[in-house]
Amino acid sequence: MVDNNLESSRQRAEELRREIEEHNYRYYVLDNPLISDTQYDRLMQELLRLEKEFPGLQSPDSPTQRVGGQPREGFSAVKHLEPMLSLANAFDISDLLDFDRRVRGALPGETVEYVVELKIDGLAVSLYYEHGVFMRGATRGDGTLGEDITANLRAMRSVPLRLRQNIPALEVRGEAYMSKDAFSQLNSAREEAGEHPFANPRNAAAGSLRQLNPSVTAARRLSVYFYGIGHSRGIELPGHWVGLSMLAELGFRVNPQRVLCLDIDEVIETCRRWQDERFKLPYSIDGLVVKVNSLHQQQRLGATMKSPRWAVAFKYPAEEARTVVRDIFWRVGRTGVLTPTAVLEPVSLAGSTVSRATLHNIDIIHNKDIRIGDTVIVHKAGDVIPEVISVVENLRQGNEIPVGEPADCPECNSPLVRQEDEVAIRCPNPSCPALLREGLIHFVSRGAMDVAGLGPALISLLIRENLVRDAADLYVLEPQALAGLERMGPKSAQNLADAIAATRDNPLHRLIFGLGIRHVGERAGKILAEHYGSLDELARTTYDELVAIPEIGPKIAASIQEYFQNPENLHLIHKLRSAGVNTGAGVKTAAQPGPLTGKTFVLTGTLEKYSRQEAKEKIEVLGGKVSSGVSKKTNYVIAGDSPGSKYQKALALGVAVLTENDFEELLQEQ
Ligand code: IVH
Repeated sequence: MVDNNLESSRQRAEELRREIEEHNYRYYVLDNPLISDTQYDRLMQELLRLEKEFPGLQSPDSPTQRVGGQPREGFSAVKHLEPMLSLANAFDISDLLDFDRRVRGALPGETVEYVVELKIDGLAVSLYYEHGVFMRGATRGDGTLGEDITANLRAMRSVPLRLRQNIPALEVRGEAYMSKDAFSQLNSAREEAGEHPFANPRNAAAGSLRQLNPSVTAARRLSVYFYGIGHSRGIELPGHWVGLSMLAELGFRVNPQRVLCLDIDEVIETCRRWQDERFKLPYSIDGLVVKVNSLHQQQRLGATMKSPRWAVAFKYPAEEARTVVRDIFWRVGRTGVLTPTAVLEPVSLAGSTVSRATLHNIDIIHNKDIRIGDTVIVHKAGDVIPEVISVVENLRQGNEIPVGEPADCPECNSPLVRQEDEVAIRCPNPSCPALLREGLIHFVSRGAMDVAGLGPALISLLIRENLVRDAADLYVLEPQALAGLERMGPKSAQNLADAIAATRDNPLHRLIFGLGIRHVGERAGKILAEHYGSLDELARTTYDELVAIPEIGPKIAASIQEYFQNPENLHLIHKLRSAGVNTGAGVKTAAQPGPLTGKTFVLTGTLEKYSRQEAKEKIEVLGGKVSSGVSKKTNYVIAGDSPGSKYQKALALGVAVLTENDFEELLQEQ
């Protein structure tokens, strides 16, 4: 009996692992998720439960091993099976032509094709797989010996733990990086917390991977693109181009922006194209990598001690501009931290016009000796955040104005405080209007309650007019009151009221994130919502219970406790609940019965009125389940425009197919 139970659990665990890895692959590699986060979390919880009940079922390639690993003592060294070389640089077209001449000179009479890839500004990593299972991963280190960062790499969802084919041995190389978005969010959060910001996404990625706690890596939004193979056994490839496609087929995330060029002219054309285009990418690159395609030619070209002769890095010059600091002002953030901003004479820089630059903190202003009226050199950290690099001192006229540490809050005049060990200056007044404004801006922001059409200017106006004193007041705003505001007609007032009302039923994790509890980001919001199910439960929890949750560290736990000990916050939650905002068990999902309980849906094609996520949420709210593949058990396939193979399969299996209109009707009937 026990054995039977163990056997069926083993099978279920294996099934869950495959399913979870498939969803990871779809989410992190293909960017095409099929299930909601809640459903994903549920699969994960089930697997965790099974592995806890039967510890014998645990295995290092289980997706449950991605997070919650124990912080390690220190990094041990890993010897790369093939050395990790670096690249020689080309700074202009003539360097590229020289490279091509050298290559073709060594391969007389042969045609040479090149592969051009983006050179993402991150951290080189090497991952080793045996029989398709991730064994260990390392930083580049000195090229021969790297640091063992296996636990941290495991925590990254774009790292496959198991490959889609069983290759006897494979050492893959890739670049771990942080997107521009994640980088600027991380830096603002660090500034708000009084910590030093990272200088660029590369440092941020390195800092997140080269630290000893895997939950930190998990919480930072890191990703990786794979671009090459080190050592391998059991694969034969003609060229690098095919190799990249093979890596993608194995389940690795490979950058789609890659080009096969038939000669150096096409390479040069590609380098020119990315010169300005690169600023539109969601991550920062510092150039392109040009590689000889044929592996046979690569072998014959060989390498110097430092770098291969078959590849070169084409580097774009760092974008800098010169401009004048017109003013410096201090902005009070959501947690009361003041950040200085320079108002600049508008200047064109790295793909946009820049008229503001963050100065981060008072120490930076003093170290760089930045004064109002100074001519300065600016750049964009990680291609996103405009920053002052230095002052052009020989252009000083003598009338520039040095900036002192502000003594009083620019918003409420309270005396400011600066803790000894902190660089941050804070406004200690909990009722400072800036805190309310910034808190509300955060509350309605995209990752939080996501209220369409309620921007910072309107929030300031609502506060000024005394219409809102906290987030809960938003839900009792009357359209008539809104219609009286500047530039607000009755129609837009009604639209705004509707948009606010629509967020009452948001899933709980959005509200938890929106409350702006220090250190509780979007991911922590989801983990807490899943774990506690309601704000009341979360408010009642203990520090010990919080830190027992994987990924919730002491800092987050302490901050949550502090938040719920404050009577004002409890009052706010009470008001939100009274205003009908969902503080309960999140969206009703399949776990909670509804009219569609027991019904499984599959979505295919593009719907006109709903995104996939929205359609999924609609179904889940009514108790239904959305599944990724069509089987006999599927009750309905909803086919939008240009449906895919799932539509054919539904027809073949005789599963009911609904058009978007049918779906709408079905929703309305419920
Ligand atoms: S190939 C032997 N391809 O650039 C050649 N490198 O010095 C190995 N990088 O830190 C490098 N994107 O991590 C290659 N598509 C790409 C790359 C890339 C970024 C980094 C690499 C290394 C540096 C090369």
